[in-house]
Amino acid sequence: MQIIRTRSEMHSFSALHAGKIGFVPTMGYLHAGHISLVERARAEQSVVVVSIFVNPAQFNDPKDLEKYPVDLDRDFAMLEKAGVDAVFCPARSEVYPNGVPALRMSYDEVMNRLCGAGRPGHFEGVLLVVHNLFMWVRPQRAYFGLKDYQQYLLIKRMATDLELGVEAVGCPLVREADGLAMSSRNVRLTAAGRVAALAISKALFAAAELWRKGETAAAVQAALNSLLTPLQVEYALICDADSLATVLPGAPRPARVVIAVAAFVDGVRLIDNVLLT
Ligand code: PAF
Repeated sequence: MQIIRTRSEMHSFSALHAGKIGFVPTMGYLHAGHISLVERARAEQSVVVVSIFVNPAQFNDPKDLEKYPVDLDRDFAMLEKAGVDAVFCPARSEVYPNGVPALRMSYDEVMNRLCGAGRPGHFEGVLLVVHNLFMWVRPQRAYFGLKDYQQYLLIKRMATDLELGVEAVGCPLVREADGLAMSSRNVRLTAAGRVAALAISKALFAAAELWRKGETAAAVQAALNSLLTPLQVEYALICDADSLATVLPGAPRPARVVIAVAAFVDGVRLIDNVLLT
């Protein structure tokens, strides 16, 4: 497995493997969810590149950035075992040689809903770095977990609208055996917080079941709110899966919905969702 630290090395690697690259962008501290993306990339493309870069431009809270877990040796071992061909692991000064640029891409509605409302500037920072990573890695396909459903939607639109020549592939969310959505942030939970966090997936599964049975948006929303009562909830919403607009009581049922939650446990911000199509 090749470890690539600079943009110029990355350009040479991508030129050598043009047309064959499957790409998994990450911020490191990998878990089984990331490895499932690598496996999908492996199955569909002959060369797999993973990037590890904790992107300061997407953290609206500097304390959250400071606390983001990092363990490169552990990540490299996991990626080597998963059969990755190259890891692009640039320093901050390599990605942003002149500091984070002021350039911002925005998609007003989809970007400002859900996580966009609570984390101003977050998705602008994500799109900036993913756009640049696509330019350096030059993949045919890039793989994203659907836990970050809104992120996936925005990246897919950016890739289409800017004709980046990359297909963004959304891959199933991976859960722990007890239902907790896998996240690099879970390591920051205390033992009690880890148990409390299960309320999120339990509430989502119950809400999804009610929606499938044809319950009204108001009834599903009430159940969701009540099951999440013990937690500090940022949002818990039933949304149209394409526009992310909230499904209002009495409005027609959209064909595809996403029920999405963001909540704080032990001061750690966790997100989860179920997609009903
Ligand atoms: O999902 C993530 O880990 C990050 O938002 C991404 C896509 C690697 C961009 O920094």
